[in-house]
Amino acid sequence: MEFLDSVLIVGGGGREHAILKALLRSDRPLCTYAYPGNPGMESDGCTIVEEKISSWKDLAAWAEENEINLTIVGPEQPLVDGIVDEFRKRQLTIFGPTKAAAQIEGSKHFAKTLMRTYGIPTAAFESFTDKESALKYLRKTGVPVVVKASGLAAGKGAIVCDTMKEAEQALDDMFERKVFGDAAATVIIEEKLIGEEASVFALSDGKHYKILPVSQDHKPVFDGDKGPNTGGMGAYAPAPQVDAAMLARIEQEIIAPTLAAMTKEKLPYQGLLYAGVMITAAGPKVVEFNCRFGDPETEAVLPLVHCDWFDALSACAAGRLAEVQWTVKKGACVTVILASKGYPGHYEKGKVIIGVEEVEHGDANVDIYHAGTKLNDRGELVTNGGRVLAVSAWGASLKDAVATAYENVAKIRFEGMQYRKDIAAKGLARLVEK
Ligand code: AMP
Ligand code: GLY
Repeated sequence: MEFLDSVLIVGGGGREHAILKALLRSDRPLCTYAYPGNPGMESDGCTIVEEKISSWKDLAAWAEENEINLTIVGPEQPLVDGIVDEFRKRQLTIFGPTKAAAQIEGSKHFAKTLMRTYGIPTAAFESFTDKESALKYLRKTGVPVVVKASGLAAGKGAIVCDTMKEAEQALDDMFERKVFGDAAATVIIEEKLIGEEASVFALSDGKHYKILPVSQDHKPVFDGDKGPNTGGMGAYAPAPQVDAAMLARIEQEIIAPTLAAMTKEKLPYQGLLYAGVMITAAGPKVVEFNCRFGDPETEAVLPLVHCDWFDALSACAAGRLAEVQWTVKKGACVTVILASKGYPGHYEKGKVIIGVEEVEHGDANVDIYHAGTKLNDRGELVTNGGRVLAVSAWGASLKDAVATAYENVAKIRFEGMQYRKDIAAKGLARLVEK
C-alpha cells in the first residue's frame, strides 16, 4: 500500500473546511481526519474522530496512536489552552504556537504590553483590574475609547464607546455584572482608532516568516457596517486598501518587529500570526493580534494561494519555512457568510438547508464551506450554528468574484437565512477611485 501522510485538523468551522480543501488541492495524497469536523469536511473524504476526547491530552494520545504526521489547529481556544505543548510532549508535529506564545491573543494585556515595550504601533492604552481606577482614567482621557476584556471572549469582548455613558456601562458589565466572566478580570481601555481595517496573516517558523494575501473582514452583522459585531460576515482578498507600499510598512513596522520581540521574550512564534491592522492617517496600527487563521478571511485567502499546504504548515513546525514556495493566483476571492436569523444574538437551529450540492457541483471557481451544519436523523443537512455556510468565489477581478459569489448564494436557502449584500463594497469603491 502506498504510504500516505496523515493530517488531523482541529476545529469544525468554515476556516477548518477551507484548510482541508486547500490541503486536498495539492497533488500530495493525504489521509485526513478532523476533530470535531463538520458534515462538509466529511463529504470531502475527511474522517471524523469519533472517540471520546475529554482533553487535549486525550487528542494527543489519539494522534500518537493513529500515527498522525501533522496536526493543524484552527481555533484559538485549544492553542490558548496549550494543545501544542501536549502534542510536542509526544514529539508530534503540530502547527500553531505554544500556550505561552498564544498569549498574544489570549491576553490583550500581554499583547499590548509587548507592543508598548517594543515600539510596535498600536492604540494608546492602560490596563485595569478594578473599576475605580478604570473610571478615573476614563474621566481623564474622555471618549471615544474602546473598552476590552483582556482574555478570550469569543470575539465579543471589545466595546467601542462614543459616549461616557457607554464606556461606564461597558466597565460595569465587565467589572460588576461579569458578563465576560474571568476574561474581563483585566480590562483594557484604549484609544479609538479611525481608519479601515485589514487582516494580515503571516506564517512563521520561529525564524522566518511569509505573508499571505491581505484580506478584509466584515464584522458588523448588517450592511453598511451596522448592528452588533459578529465573528465575521464575509471577507475578500486581496484588499486593495493595502497596496505594496502599505504592506511594506506593515511588514517593517508590525510583522517583523513583533516576531522578533517574541523571540527576544523567549517565546519564538511558530504558526500563523494574524495582525488586525487599522490603516490610520498616521499609518498602520495594530488593533489586535490573533494566534491562528482568521474566520472567514481564511475562506477567501487560501483559494488564492497555490502550494503544498501539508509541506508549508509542516515547515512552520520544523523551522524550514524559508524553503517553502507558493504562487498567488491573480484575481480576487470573495466569501459571503450565510447566517441564521437572530445571529449574533439568539437563533434557532435545525432548519433544512437546500442547494448546497448544486453549488458544490457547479462552477469550479466556487467553494462552499460548512460552518454550523449537521445531518439530522433523516440525513438532511440542517443549520446548527450562527454562521452556517461560507460561499467563496474566485473571479478574474474583484467585481467578477463578487458577482459569482452572490449568484451562488442565491442558490442556497434555509428558513431565516441572513447575509450581508455588500461584501467587498469598500474594496470595489477603492478600485473605482484609483
Ligand atoms: P478585538 O476584540 O480587539 O479584535 O476588536 C474587535 C473589533 O472592535 C475590531 O475588529 C475593531 O473593529 C473594533 N476595535 C477594536 N479596537 C479598536 C480600536 N482601538 N479602535 C477602533 N476600533 C477598534
Ligand atoms: N474574522 C475575525 C477573526 O477570525 O478573529
